[in-house]
Amino acid sequence: MASISLLFFFFISIQLLSTISLAVVPASDTFKYVNEGDFGDYTVEYDAYYQALPLSNSPFLLCFYNTTPTAFTLALRMGTIRSDPVLRWVWEANRGNPVRENATLTFSTDGNLVLADADGRIAWQTNTANKGVVGLQILPNGNMVLHDGKGNFIWQSFDSPTDTLLVGQSLRAGGPSRLVSRFSESNNVDGAYSLVMEPKGLVMYYTSPNSVRPMVYWTSSEWFTIDKGGLSNLTLKSEADSDEGFLYYLTFEYFVTNPSSNSNRNMAYSQYNNTYSYLRLGIDGNLRFLTFNPNVEENSWEVIYTFFDRRSMEGECQLPERCGKFGLCEDSQCVACPTPNGLIGWSKDCESKKVTSCKSGEFGYYKLEGVDHFTIKYTRGDGGMKQSDCESKCSKDCKCMGYFYHTDRSRCWIAYDLKTLTRVGNSTNLAYIKTPKK
Ligand SMILES: *[C@@H]1O[C@H](CO)[C@@H](O)[C@H](O)[C@H]1NC(C)=O
Ligand SMILES: *[C@@H]1O[C@H](CO)[C@@H](O)[C@H](O)[C@H]1NC(C)=O
Ligand SMILES: *[C@@H]1O[C@H](CO)[C@@H](O)[C@H](O)[C@H]1NC(C)=O
Ligand SMILES: *[C@@H]1O[C@H](CO)[C@@H](O)[C@H](O)[C@H]1NC(C)=O
Repeated sequence: MASISLLFFFFISIQLLSTISLAVVPASDTFKYVNEGDFGDYTVEYDAYYQALPLSNSPFLLCFYNTTPTAFTLALRMGTIRSDPVLRWVWEANRGNPVRENATLTFSTDGNLVLADADGRIAWQTNTANKGVVGLQILPNGNMVLHDGKGNFIWQSFDSPTDTLLVGQSLRAGGPSRLVSRFSESNNVDGAYSLVMEPKGLVMYYTSPNSVRPMVYWTSSEWFTIDKGGLSNLTLKSEADSDEGFLYYLTFEYFVTNPSSNSNRNMAYSQYNNTYSYLRLGIDGNLRFLTFNPNVEENSWEVIYTFFDRRSMEGECQLPERCGKFGLCEDSQCVACPTPNGLIGWSKDCESKKVTSCKSGEFGYYKLEGVDHFTIKYTRGDGGMKQSDCESKCSKDCKCMGYFYHTDRSRCWIAYDLKTLTRVGNSTNLAYIKTPKK
């Protein structure tokens, strides 16, 4: 009897062992690619140089690219070279943590995908060693996945967006829930802007070094129908109009919990198949839908919708840095530089005077009428409170650069950064800009 159960145990163990040992990447599918050799010939986004890797699913291709000689990013590129379009970067592994020449990308039998710098330092990895990964694939929608023997995704690039959301990609509560802009064309680190999925919708933030908290510059108050519950996820989709076959919509499909429901919000459309599209939070904080049409030889990229635009609901004045460090914006144009001596013509040198002393008596305020800060439209401000209380709040706070006050509703906004002010032509909306007394 004992020997039988021992035998049985032995059998089970063998089976367990073989299941475990089966769950590895076949040696023939492992790789180690080195970032070396000649650069590719085509024009890519950010005027970068690139090395193509032999991992692709057209129009997507994995590459190393760099804008400065010693700083490479591992990224997925989108586009084909039938004509001469720009090829664009739609996903990246190691923003803010670049690697150099001779860096390696290794996919080993344990199922981990590792980007290591030339000296062996690990810059980025999927952390999927011994989790049952048996293969790597780039799917037709540009999702790079590590999957197990049953086809489940153990890791997917769609779960780590930076500034781009491809068709099929989602933002999720408790998962990847934000996009963060790129700092500049040449510098691939996090920029000042973020788009965040929150329970009641999408919110856009501007992060100023002077402000403890990011400042809201837009919220999607009317985009989604959410009663009591909160957004659970939203996915960018491309859908052909079933009635009029020649229209293709880019849509957010979104799910709400408590009570649960799901619906669609059409965002943009084109008259051709727009499966190859993405939403990008730009360096300038704007949101754009771009579509790649592989079936034409010219103008194969099209910006099919720009969110902050002179022709759309939300003009460019709502972009925090539309007028640089400081400026008055009207109808999407920078129209004036507000100085203590009145409005003068705007230039990109327009800046408020630095207040270095925090002692009362060493600074004052100058007043602007009919002007709002970019954050006012989508935030409530404090109050009701008296204007003198609003002012003393700013005066006591060394980092306050000015305050905004609506006399009709007695509401107060403290500004830790000024940037773009909007002309609203309403004398109830006042701005008081802090300025040093000489
Ligand atoms: C990369 O490796 C090659 C071959 O080993 C070597 O010639 C080259 O100098 C290396 N480049 C750097 C930047 O270390
Ligand atoms: C979104 O949430 C719903 C409900 O919670 C779920 O059924 C669905 O699979 C989720 N979709 C994605 C893409 O996460
Ligand atoms: C749109 O293009 C994609 C990719 O080529 C294709 O898979 C899909 O079937 C097309 N959709 C329609 C409605 O033609
Ligand atoms: C000014 O603000 C008040 C109160 O919000 C509003 O009733 C009025 O219409 C506004 N005037 C203009 C010119 O926008």
